[in-house]
Amino acid sequence: MCGIVGYVGPRPVVELLIPGLARLEYRGYDSAGLAIQQQDSIAVIKQVGRIADLEHALSLSPLPEGHTGIGHTRWATHGAPNTINAHPHRDCTGSVIVAHNGIIENWADLRSELIAGGHEFASDTDTEVVAHMLEDLADLPLAEAVRSVMKRTDGALALVVMRASDPDLLVGARRGSPLVVGKGDGENFLASDIPAFLEHTRRMVVVDEDRVVEITKESIRITDLEGTELPLEERVIEWDLEAAEKGGFSTFMEKEIHEQPRAITDTLRGRIRRDGLVDLSELGLDPERLRIVDKVYVVACGTSFHAAMMAKYAIERWVRLPVEIDIASEFRYRDPVLDSNSLVIAISQSGETIDTMAAARYAKAQGCLLIGVTNVVDSALARESNAVLYTRAGPEIGVAATKTFTTQLVALQLLGLYLAQVRGSRDEGSLVHLAAAVRSLPKLVEEALQASTDIEDISQKFAHTRDVFFLGRSGDFPVAMEGALKLKEIAYLRAEGYAAGEMKHGPIALIEPGVLVVGVATDTHVRAKTISNMQEMKARGATIVMVVERGHEQEAEEVADHVLTVPPGPDLICTVTAVVPLQLLAYHIATAHGLDVDKPRNLAKTVTVE
Ligand code: F6R
Repeated sequence: MCGIVGYVGPRPVVELLIPGLARLEYRGYDSAGLAIQQQDSIAVIKQVGRIADLEHALSLSPLPEGHTGIGHTRWATHGAPNTINAHPHRDCTGSVIVAHNGIIENWADLRSELIAGGHEFASDTDTEVVAHMLEDLADLPLAEAVRSVMKRTDGALALVVMRASDPDLLVGARRGSPLVVGKGDGENFLASDIPAFLEHTRRMVVVDEDRVVEITKESIRITDLEGTELPLEERVIEWDLEAAEKGGFSTFMEKEIHEQPRAITDTLRGRIRRDGLVDLSELGLDPERLRIVDKVYVVACGTSFHAAMMAKYAIERWVRLPVEIDIASEFRYRDPVLDSNSLVIAISQSGETIDTMAAARYAKAQGCLLIGVTNVVDSALARESNAVLYTRAGPEIGVAATKTFTTQLVALQLLGLYLAQVRGSRDEGSLVHLAAAVRSLPKLVEEALQASTDIEDISQKFAHTRDVFFLGRSGDFPVAMEGALKLKEIAYLRAEGYAAGEMKHGPIALIEPGVLVVGVATDTHVRAKTISNMQEMKARGATIVMVVERGHEQEAEEVADHVLTVPPGPDLICTVTAVVPLQLLAYHIATAHGLDVDKPRNLAKTVTVE
């Protein structure tokens, strides 16, 4: 998501901040800006678009030279991607400057309070509240004012601020979003990630949770929120620049697989109320509009279609509405029966896929209520939809969808629970129970990721397998489909996802020794049936891998050559954890073949052709 780089030292700061921001481009962004300290003021320049656009703006109106400054690349969450919403943001006087990465959950309340107190806002961002709060605390030392702001804000924050009255001082703070200090000789850096300063220094200090850091060119001071000074733990970075961008992982895909707990936490943030019920009032939909819906259609392509499959099961089970799912390229040409009581949910991580967009536009033209589920703020899908539910996975660089898929599943689970609540189709107790399970997913996914090394070992054994089937029933069926797609697209193996009960109607003819069959059996009410289907595969000579919930290893071992476990949880919600071992399996098989998993052949991240 957003990237921040700050510098205090003797060198001309613009020349350091622009390359620093370029090193953070991999995080994804839609606008960029700089703030440079002058004698008694701070100059700011911002520009929607790429860093090259910011450089062009600088060439037209150059900033005066300065030696302390902040640069920021913004990945929009609150407010459209435009120049006004680009960071850094200022208070009413222009003497406090703030760059932020993350989401301030209670920004709306803070903003109303600040407006009532006479502050004027220039942008639609959550970030700007921080600048105005700091303006009200102008009498305090800057670090103390930042500590006070941290105590009043909820959500994920990495802040870097400066004040005209405190030359050559940057103050940073961290909760939830990353922030690191680069320690130089007579100069220091503050950044969202190491690549921003790695060409200047290899010495770094990590800013821990709920810490405030002050840097000048000669000093680094870290305190907790009570102001107690803490020892600095300096580390030396051994990685090169490319490895640093991947956070120490060997590929972006591996990094993104491991980012899933954080991405899911962000997607959940602010969407489950204190009473345990889901709150999607952010959709801005009149509950009455949701109550008149009599049929739901979910449309998407590829991996996003597998999220649609899970949504069908969840909405039918929890909301008791009929749901049809369609591959978007089929939906738009098959003349579906739609009217104003139909709810169409279009899912697209990029928000730009041409088939999904055409399906969404078609549905809207028929008068349907259109909800878009996307990862990209202000994307074409977001603009077309009557309401948008954002996944907050952050930018995904690997072409194969991983964290955008699991965050889609989570967003759709929240939507299913919200619909059930608004329409009264389930009692509150059971909704609270299910929402609690969704809330525990970051922890469960973290646990599922711990099996990565075992899966790597198992994957070596399948390096020469050519044919693979992935089987599952109910909530495990979309997981099986996704496991097969991942293996096809990054390891170039022939892999088929099937409903486990469907094998005997034809595909079982393909089962013989040498074929690998991966059975997913985490859905409790069909587990025994899936396991017995796997017996049918074993009897015909297939090698069997089973994915089951912890506690069911014994049943699985009776049929499987290898058993992979995931933490237990309610049916359907567990799709999120069940897919993790399959992502890892595909990943490790592909890397065992020496393939470039981040850029598989013939594939594009955003498909804008029919
Ligand atoms: C598979 C993958 C693709 C996309 C599909 C739809 O890993 O990434 O199958 O899921 O191209 O893309 P979006 O979600 O952007 O509409």
